[in-house]
Amino acid sequence: MAVLLWLLPLLLLLEAKGDSGDDVNPEEVAAVLQGPASLSLEIPSDEDVERIIWYFHKPLATVVPGKDGHPATIRVTNPQFENRLSWLDTSHTLLIRNLSWADSGLYQAQVYLGTSQLSTMQYYDLRIYQWLSEPQITVNFEISREGPCNMSLTCFVKADMDVTYSWFSSGDSTDTNHEGPVLRTSWRPGDSALLYTCRASNPISSIRSRPISAGHFCADPGYSEKPSTPFCLLAKGLLLLLLLVILAVGLWVVRVVRVQKKKQMPKMKKLKRNRMELRKREKPGLSLP
Ligand SMILES: *[C@@H]1O[C@H](CO)[C@@H](O)[C@H](O)[C@H]1NC(C)=O
Ligand SMILES: *[C@@H]1O[C@H](CO)[C@@H](O)[C@H](O)[C@H]1NC(C)=O
Repeated sequence: MAVLLWLLPLLLLLEAKGDSGDDVNPEEVAAVLQGPASLSLEIPSDEDVERIIWYFHKPLATVVPGKDGHPATIRVTNPQFENRLSWLDTSHTLLIRNLSWADSGLYQAQVYLGTSQLSTMQYYDLRIYQWLSEPQITVNFEISREGPCNMSLTCFVKADMDVTYSWFSSGDSTDTNHEGPVLRTSWRPGDSALLYTCRASNPISSIRSRPISAGHFCADPGYSEKPSTPFCLLAKGLLLLLLLVILAVGLWVVRVVRVQKKKQMPKMKKLKRNRMELRKREKPGLSLP
C-alpha cells in the first residue's frame, strides 16, 4: 500500500512532463552532403535565452548566447563537431558546416530561458542528401504478332534515398503524369510516337531525364542493345533452314554427277572391246600365205 502511495505522485509527474508542451515530433531538416545545416530554435520574442545544451546521441555543445555586446560562446563537447559549429544570435540558430553522412540523425536542444527558469526540449531530424544525377531509363518490351507492343519503362538514379519518381509523356494533346518509378504503356504501329520523360526528386534536388521515344523500341527492336528472344529464335530457325537447303542441293548435285559418270563408262568399254575384236580378226588374215 505504501508503495502504491509513492507511485501515484510519480505517475502524475510523468504525465505532467509529457504534457508540458515539448515538441516531441522532430522537425525535419534536409541538408546537402558537405554543405551546412541550420537548426533554428523557436523562442518567443519576449523570452531571454540563458543557455542551450545540444545533444546528438550524447552532449554535443553548450551555447551561451551573446549579451550586452559580448559575443556568444560555444563549448564543443563532441570532437566530431570540432571547428564546425557557429551560433547565430539573432535567429537563435546553430550552424553545422561541412556535413558528413555521420552527422545525420536526431538532434535535441535543451533550452534554458532566463526569465521563467524553465527549460524546453526541441528536436530535429537531420537528413543529409546528395545532388541527384541524371536519371537512367531501362525499357522492357514484348512484341507479339497480334495486339499492341507492351512496354515497361523503369527510371532510376544511383543514390535513391527518399527519391520520388514521376513520368511525363508529351506528344498527344494531354500531357499525362504518372507517379512511381515504373511506367507501363503500349504502342501500335500507326500510333503517334510519344516522348516520355522521367523526373527524379529528393528533398534537395530534382532532375529530369532526356526524353525517349518509346514507339521507337517497338518499331525497330534492333535499336535496343538486348534483342528480344522471339526475334533471336526466328533468325536461328532461318539459318538452320538455309543450311539444310544447301546440304540437300549439294547431295543432289553429287548424285547427278555420279549417275552421269556411270552412263558414260560402259560405252567406253564397249568401244575398246570392239577394237580388240577388230585386231583379232585382222591377225589371221595377215598370217595367211
Ligand atoms: C570537410 O570534411 C571532410 C571529411 O568529412 C574533410 O576531408 C574536408 O577537408 C572538410 N572540408 C572543409 C572545408 O573543412
Ligand atoms: C499487352 O497487353 C494487353 C492487355 O493490356 C494484352 O492483351 C496483350 O496480350 C499484351 N501483349 C503482349 C505481347 O504481351
